[in-house]
Amino acid sequence: MNKTVIYPGTFDPITYGHIDIIERTAYIFDKVIVSIINKPAKSQFMFSVEERLEMVEKSVDCFDNVRVEIFDGLLIEYAKKKKVNLIVRGLRAITDFEYEFQMALTNKRLAHTIETVFMMTSEKHSYLSSSVVKEVVSYGGNVSEFVPDFISEKLQQKLSAAYNKPI
Ligand code: COA
Repeated sequence: MNKTVIYPGTFDPITYGHIDIIERTAYIFDKVIVSIINKPAKSQFMFSVEERLEMVEKSVDCFDNVRVEIFDGLLIEYAKKKKVNLIVRGLRAITDFEYEFQMALTNKRLAHTIETVFMMTSEKHSYLSSSVVKEVVSYGGNVSEFVPDFISEKLQQKLSAAYNKPI
């Protein structure tokens, strides 16, 4: 049986933590759809959905069975539309558990045929988040251990564009 999974997230920006989950998921399942939430109403994203799409696509280019898409609205409705009944989420620490548990149970209640499976994040990425990466860059720190080089450059460009904006 051909098994496809959805790996959803904000990816603002994608980090090595996400790439690690995608790589391991792509090894287990036949096809992985990395699904980036659009959420246009929320303006707190550093990158537009088009920029996030471009960064994720470039980061997963080396995996033949990984595709990247943008979605809006409820995750389970999107999954139903794609005819996919498996969602993958990464678990970094105990602190993730409560939130993920709530989200998985709510999704299950809303669509009982859709399952969420969890993958433990590799130890070396367990502390990582997109916000941490943005914070390190904003203080001039080196994030080459956290994100691919081209994303580090994009982060720096974003920050210098923000600093040079007329008030
Ligand atoms: N490595 C590194 N960082 C990771 C990570 C990993 N393996 N897994 C998660 N993270 C980080 C992300 O970088 C992000 O960091 P930030 O908060 O600093 O930006 C943070 O964990 C949150 O993860 P993310 O998965 O991007 O966002 P989320 O938990 O808000 O979930 C959706 C995103 C798209 C899955 C969720 O909002 C959703 O399903 N929305 C649609 C509406 C819906 O159906 N809601 C569910 C009803 S309960």
